[in-house]
Amino acid sequence: MLLKTTPFSDQKPGTSGLRKQVTRFQEPNYLPNFIQSIFNCLPDLKGATLVVGGDGRFYNREAIQIIISMAAANQVGKLLIGQSGVLSTPAVSHLIRSNNALGGIILSASHNPGGPDGDFGVKYNASNGGPAPESFTDAVFKVSQNIESYEIADNDPVDLETKSTTELDGMIVEIVDSVSDYADLMESIFDFDKIRDLISQSDFKLCFDAMSAVTGPYAKEILGNRLGVQAENIIRAEPLEDFGGGHPDPNLAHAKELVERMFSDQAPAFGAASDGDGDRNMILGANCYVTPSDSLAILAANAQLVPGYKDGLAGVARSMPTSQAVDRVAEALSLKCFETPTGWKFFGNLLDDGRITLCGEESFGTGSDHVREKDGLWAVLFWLNILAVKQQSVSDLVMDHWKHFGRNYYTRHDYEGIETSRADEVFNLLESKLADSAGKVMSGRTIKKADNFAYNDPVDSSVSSNQGIRFLFEDGARIIFRKSGTGTSGATLRLYVEHFESDPTRFELDTQQVLKDLLNIAEELAQLTTLTGREKADVIT
Ligand code: G6P
Ligand code: ZN
Repeated sequence: MLLKTTPFSDQKPGTSGLRKQVTRFQEPNYLPNFIQSIFNCLPDLKGATLVVGGDGRFYNREAIQIIISMAAANQVGKLLIGQSGVLSTPAVSHLIRSNNALGGIILSASHNPGGPDGDFGVKYNASNGGPAPESFTDAVFKVSQNIESYEIADNDPVDLETKSTTELDGMIVEIVDSVSDYADLMESIFDFDKIRDLISQSDFKLCFDAMSAVTGPYAKEILGNRLGVQAENIIRAEPLEDFGGGHPDPNLAHAKELVERMFSDQAPAFGAASDGDGDRNMILGANCYVTPSDSLAILAANAQLVPGYKDGLAGVARSMPTSQAVDRVAEALSLKCFETPTGWKFFGNLLDDGRITLCGEESFGTGSDHVREKDGLWAVLFWLNILAVKQQSVSDLVMDHWKHFGRNYYTRHDYEGIETSRADEVFNLLESKLADSAGKVMSGRTIKKADNFAYNDPVDSSVSSNQGIRFLFEDGARIIFRKSGTGTSGATLRLYVEHFESDPTRFELDTQQVLKDLLNIAEELAQLTTLTGREKADVIT
């Protein structure tokens, strides 16, 4: 049936889909409007296959029932839905690709908190398995601003809990195992025998933190059943609708129990965590934290030790604010290295066009051409495969890497939820300084170039401008300012600072100490204390 509706003004997708508070999504017509807007932008929707799944957060099941009814009324041919409505983001990407689906709808607000007062999100992925490009999300937004009606079937709720194939108004609804296809894919990339041997060594303990989010069932099957990790070493493995009240973000602040275990006398050899929807990862060794930027560089440098990448890499890519550690590896291996704006979607064209094999972001995302999303458990298995071959501790591996390539000291300072007008003032001030910055000397460092980053996609020639303010120094140091595109209230300002160090006697210094002079320059450039009204950043990683 056709139901009348009126537009909502705020349905513009951000860095990663439409993210709002659950209460907003629960408002009558809010979700249907957005879903119909997506459908209206898909000329091939009739008879097509779509994959649907979410990270299991509060409102997941209700949203899926609405999507089922709307898909049936919009004459979709088939829906593939994860059992209990659950699919990790990389698993959705894989199912889209392996079933030649038209696309998929992912229900997640990633690492944002969940529950009745938390966040919810909807993201559309295209037939390559990756987040839809900006041209598509812009078109969806446009439709949402003029929407007058939507199509929805009047059906009983579909049983999501049992694997089954049923029919609804001519549309096939298949409830599939959430884990098995993805687990098989992992087994086809990595040397599970070697990893199993490593895990059975008495001196090798590991701890994986699923953060009460979607990777619990995946970790239990892959790390537990297939690789022999004991159940007590997979912590917070039961997915909860509110993630146990926590923030399902794998970083030093939010994976507290894991971090306590890893920084102690009894620390396991390897620790890792993934986020709400399973696409992020954090890697730790005994008393050692690996930054996401270093992790990407180390995976690139050692990729040929892994069966899935034994023939080498086509190229690599990183988002602009990610440290340049991987650039050094690319240079040494004569690989092309691309610099894209923040947001996984920008890697899609490079992967599809075969220009890159590996890519990653400072925001705890790493991935490859096996799917078109970043992939948390994949990164964990990649590390385990390397450790199994090298028989080295995480910290020795990292130190050897720095000795070979040098160390990119790196930090990110976040000013969260500041008033939009204050954030605008900061960026206006920075913009005003760009033109006459080149050549200027600050604390002994000379600015080589200052700009507002724009990306020219080498594959489809699209241009994405206004992607962050950069101050690039002659010695390779960088200071970058960006506004987050994933927040749901106010503005979050991110400051990224990087300094390259080639002197091995300076590889074990305190990061904040090493970067102090650059942080002072950043303060001078952006007047952060005065303009944000904050003495210091809310989160420092
Ligand atoms: C999501 C996206 C990433 C992005 C990250 C941070 O996880 O998938 O591609 O790097 O958000 O985005 P933000 O705009 O908040 O810095
Ligand atoms: Zn995520």
